[in-house]
Amino acid sequence: MAKQEDVFKTIVAHAKEYGFVFQSSEIYDGLSAVYDYGQNGVELKNNIKRYWWESMTMLHDNIVGIDSAIFMHPTIWKASGHVDAFNDPLIDNKDSKKRYRADVLIEDEIAKFDDKINKEVAKAAKRFGESFDEEMFRKTNPRVLEHQAKRDALHERFAKAMNDNDLAELRQIIIDQEIVCPISGTRNWTDVRQFNLMFKTEMGSTADGAMNVYLRPETAQGIFVNYLNVQKTGRMRIPFGIAQIGKAFRNEIVARQFIFRMREFEQMEMQFFVRPGEEMHYFDYWRQWRMRWHKALGMGDSKYRFHDHEKLAHYANAATDIEFEMPFGFKEVEGIHSRTDFDLSQHEKYSGKKIQYFDPELNKSYTPYVIETSIGVDRMFLSVFCSCYEDQDLGNGDRRVVLHFPAPLAPVKCAVLPLVKKDGLPEKAREIQHRLRFDFTCQYDEKDSIGKRYRRQDAIGTPYCVTVDHQTLEDNTVTLRHRDTMEQQRVAIDQLESMLAAEVSLNSLLRKLL
Ligand code: GAP
Repeated sequence: MAKQEDVFKTIVAHAKEYGFVFQSSEIYDGLSAVYDYGQNGVELKNNIKRYWWESMTMLHDNIVGIDSAIFMHPTIWKASGHVDAFNDPLIDNKDSKKRYRADVLIEDEIAKFDDKINKEVAKAAKRFGESFDEEMFRKTNPRVLEHQAKRDALHERFAKAMNDNDLAELRQIIIDQEIVCPISGTRNWTDVRQFNLMFKTEMGSTADGAMNVYLRPETAQGIFVNYLNVQKTGRMRIPFGIAQIGKAFRNEIVARQFIFRMREFEQMEMQFFVRPGEEMHYFDYWRQWRMRWHKALGMGDSKYRFHDHEKLAHYANAATDIEFEMPFGFKEVEGIHSRTDFDLSQHEKYSGKKIQYFDPELNKSYTPYVIETSIGVDRMFLSVFCSCYEDQDLGNGDRRVVLHFPAPLAPVKCAVLPLVKKDGLPEKAREIQHRLRFDFTCQYDEKDSIGKRYRRQDAIGTPYCVTVDHQTLEDNTVTLRHRDTMEQQRVAIDQLESMLAAEVSLNSLLRKLL
């Protein structure tokens, strides 16, 4: 098994062991691709959401938030195109009776060529040492060039089939590449069919005439259908934005990589309404701004990259993803899309209501264009969790597992620990905890040795530990231990609030954005 896969497994196990993420319905053997957040996970998740929400609604005069319902009128999904086109191409293996996404089977095949190339490069790098010129090697090595040519040809054929919605060609690629079912090992495939990803349910009793409704597959449509309400009641002037955080549901067929692809997940979406013709200016603005938001967390600039879309959805005139380097490669965490006037125009058409904006400066009405920023909370959580996890060698055979969370996102900001469980130290520690808890999430812990308690806090990413000892009773000072450096300093109790606030408050992070 590849080393990175082992690392990822260890990270997933840590997320469970320390109360971050649990499999849903675990005592009933779980529900596939559905997860619950535990006592520490919910705090980290809430902090991520707060960072996003406040950066949108508090740092921008012209962005307001809403919280729309999950259930919406079913015609909304007809208008948005989800009923007809929110599909994945599926294929079944007749022997194992297992169902796969045809596009994922082919993408995995493309990734195998990438792996082969990377292995050649790694082998050569080891052989040549310092003098290795990777760029030259990739351009000239015959084996690399052969793999690359096969990869590019396959990619081109696949992209065309997807673009043309050519299901027969997708099947033919699977046959030609001799892709086998991982379970049965055979190539006994059915035809490729389209499968709609929306969950359907019924509203009302049958006697009343039940109506089919969908669990929303994105939060964005709740914003579009409230555009007029917000614009009018908030007297919003273009350009302006509407932000929303909420659950979304997709019946994903290939659900894998833990919380990366889930059937129930959460999105943070913002639709920014602009004058037609000005959309590229704002697309570029949001593309840069969103990257700044990510990088301000300080997890390493090289872990992010843009992936601009070459092939655009029919309603978009520009689109890019922000990708993050997960243990299983660079993956999309956020999408930024210029969606033209597609959604508002569709809702105008299907609802029969005029959905326009009267622009007092231009003295005319028009359908606004929209720039969308859409990020998955769970994917953001996963990227933070993976990149902050470290199994650290402290020398002399000593190790610790530490989560180097950006301090404002940490589930617990400060642990207050009496050195021993006697001599009035617990009482003093409680007094300090009760003082700090108005401003920071704090934990009190008196069980086990101080070393073990530090390790427990490291494992959940607590940036500060305050240790109360006998000297505290004499001079009202404590030891403040820093998670990342493990350095300790003596500080007055009175200084704790201001010292912690400077590092752990969300303000410190938000200020980096302006
Ligand atoms: N309104 C646009 C929209 O929904 P998307 O690219 O389908 O666009 C946006 O989704 C983001 O939602 C993705 O970048 C990803 O972070 C998250 N997301 C999408 N599907 C997901 C899934 N099945 N599980 C977890 N997150 C998902």
